[in-house]
Amino acid sequence: MEEIKKSAEDSILNAGSIKDLEDIRVKYMGKKGEITSLMKNMGSLSNEEKPAYGQAINNLKDHVNTLLDNKKSELNTIELNARLQDETLDVTLPPYETFEGSIHPVTQTIEEIISIFGEMGFTVAEGPNIEDDWHNFTALNIPEYHPARQEHDTFYLPADENDQRFVLRTHTSPVQIRTMETQKPPFRVICPGRTYRSDSDATHTPMFHQVEMIVVEENVNFAHLKGCIIEFCRKFFGVDDLPVRFRPSFFPFTEPSAEVDIGCSKKDGALKIGGGDDWLEILGSGMIHPNVLKNAGLDPEKYQGFALGMGIERIAMLKYGIADLRTFYDSDLRWLRHYGFKALQQPNLLRGE
Ligand code: DAH
Repeated sequence: MEEIKKSAEDSILNAGSIKDLEDIRVKYMGKKGEITSLMKNMGSLSNEEKPAYGQAINNLKDHVNTLLDNKKSELNTIELNARLQDETLDVTLPPYETFEGSIHPVTQTIEEIISIFGEMGFTVAEGPNIEDDWHNFTALNIPEYHPARQEHDTFYLPADENDQRFVLRTHTSPVQIRTMETQKPPFRVICPGRTYRSDSDATHTPMFHQVEMIVVEENVNFAHLKGCIIEFCRKFFGVDDLPVRFRPSFFPFTEPSAEVDIGCSKKDGALKIGGGDDWLEILGSGMIHPNVLKNAGLDPEKYQGFALGMGIERIAMLKYGIADLRTFYDSDLRWLRHYGFKALQQPNLLRGE
């Protein structure tokens, strides 16, 4: 028994694989194994000797089983580590060779805008593309016969049974109203999304995207609006000293209102953002009109707010040098391959490079 024990111990110790170990188990513990066979000797023993002999075999079995188990888990760990070594795959490597799809510049630009405003504490809200007259116009201080309604080239839906006319929203500003109706100030929200106007040429498509920004708090003023917008423009275009100009303007939903221009140069047909002595208009903004706050159920004596609205394709065209707006929606693969962004190789969201 001692010999068998010794040789089992040696073979288990030297087993090099799970397969070896299984062979060893069969050799000693299998039906015809050396330890199992020891039972056969029972017949030649006296009744007094049998219990001690039986006990000794059981002890030997337990001992060998424990050794087998321990060795098995040791070998499992070794084999697993070897596999992990062999099969290493760097999942962070971009699949340059197999790359097929691309991120559309509009999606990319929205991501960049969200990331910049996100760092300033803004959250994202969305609203319906089919709007009622109240949210798209009236609540925004655009009364029934206001010229702004015509300027918007609105797509109207047929009137419903209550004679209510829904519209494809002409701007993202109705989400301002919906945000003020549902959130309690203070809040900072941006609302990117689709907008619709009946217009089509090199700089207009019937569907395009805007982003609305709205801040409502106690004690906010025009200086906050300016700081916020200047910060956004410089981050978005990746130009730290980008000149930003606020030009007095008019919107029914803001008072005072400003259009915002960024400094650029246009030399030999080449546009360069930053520096230079030219200006490019990029967005509309202003302090939220007290009527608008009231229409959305907020007390203008207590709260102030500021807002901006900006065309997403427009700033994407400026940043990425895309000449014609209509090409965004041609679904031309060559265009998408050229202007699109690789999914795993996105430019730095804050700098777009
Ligand atoms: N809604 C305006 C448009 O579509 C853009 C706009 C201007 C939005 C000024 C604003 C704002 O929030 O303050 O032309």
